[in-house]
Amino acid sequence: MRVAGTLRVPGDKSISHRALMLAALSDGTSRVRGLLTSADVRSTASVLRALGVAIPDLTEGEIEVRGVGRRGLRASAADLDCGNSGTTARLLSGILAATPFTARLVGDASLSRRPMRRVARPLAAMGARLTFDHGDGLPLTITGGALRGLTWFSEVASAQVKSAILLAGLVADVPVEVHEPQATRDHTERMLRARGVDVRTEGLTVTLVPGGRLDAADTGVPGDPSSAAFFAALAALAGSGTLEIERVCTNPSRAGALRVLARMGAFVGHEDAATDGGEPVARLVIAPRTLTGTTIEPHEIPSLIDELPVLACVAARAAGETRVTGAAELRVKESDRIRAVVDNLRAVGADAEELPDGFVVRGRDTPFRGRVTTHGDHRIAMAFGVLGALDGNAIEVDDRECVAVSYPGFWSDLDRVRH
Ligand code: S3P
Repeated sequence: MRVAGTLRVPGDKSISHRALMLAALSDGTSRVRGLLTSADVRSTASVLRALGVAIPDLTEGEIEVRGVGRRGLRASAADLDCGNSGTTARLLSGILAATPFTARLVGDASLSRRPMRRVARPLAAMGARLTFDHGDGLPLTITGGALRGLTWFSEVASAQVKSAILLAGLVADVPVEVHEPQATRDHTERMLRARGVDVRTEGLTVTLVPGGRLDAADTGVPGDPSSAAFFAALAALAGSGTLEIERVCTNPSRAGALRVLARMGAFVGHEDAATDGGEPVARLVIAPRTLTGTTIEPHEIPSLIDELPVLACVAARAAGETRVTGAAELRVKESDRIRAVVDNLRAVGADAEELPDGFVVRGRDTPFRGRVTTHGDHRIAMAFGVLGALDGNAIEVDDRECVAVSYPGFWSDLDRVRH
């Protein structure tokens, strides 16, 4: 298989959620260009509409959102359906903790199994009331109101937890300080600063200083590096050719997978570096080389957490062993991604072993054939879609439609770039 052509992956998912939420809370009209229009971002849009914000139909072109201001959200009689989207549920929990009404968040079966106490605990410490129907997942009922400031030492490295606390501080207009065990993606901080909010980062501590404004802003959403990673992996594994991926967000807190692919031996070039919406962007140029296994260290995990399924598939074709540790968070994603990756690699004939907090994959050059069970997890479907696209492999993915939550055009883009 030869790769060729230029691809433009859809807008970044993390930034798209935040762009809609911050536009909704701003004073004035914001414009968002290049939004991801996937099912997850539609969940955020529909929850914001239920809270009284006039969000137009989502398009990748430009949409205009008239903000209601930090005090302007209205109670919804209906449950707020976050669908499959953890970012929707966790970031909105922060906003709702500071709004003076009761709201009930619900989600699909996968989201309802995912831990929410990690955001409920700090928000309760700020003075909000959060009650679970059962256990630690959705449905979650939040009664918000006046909050007090918070200094929080987060046990998990999670941008969603950090962002929920920052958004609660923003809406309640109280000081918050979050200490992270490891640095996580910093889109919320960048976007708040671009809107005039005083947010300071010092090492692993992020502080929001209250009393400021939240300006409306015009934002461009760069291409999603987590979506680009599937095609970077495909190009790294191809027999020949070169693939270019346009205006991908190269924020260092998201770029771990590209660093790992380069370390494994792939050609990874960056051209035309620029900024878009306060984020660094570049055109990626990726070409195949002989790949060797690598060790992915715990400190690298937050910068490539969503890319580990596809990196595991790359490792299955790289010479020698690839070892990932410090990635226990993978077990509480849209599926248990440690188990899903290892079981599916084995199901197609690869050599993989589960660890409590990661996995070991030993590369093989035998054909990989069989059926993959996605558990409805988009990143499992796309990772094995890439592996199945390589010469000699024949992999059937049980649920191809689940890619709709982050990358609705994935399968047609995959067809377009392989020759
Ligand atoms: C995200 C943060 C990460 C990531 C998720 C999106 C975000 O989750 O896995 O896909 O937009 O903040 P955690 O915060 O749970 O690590």
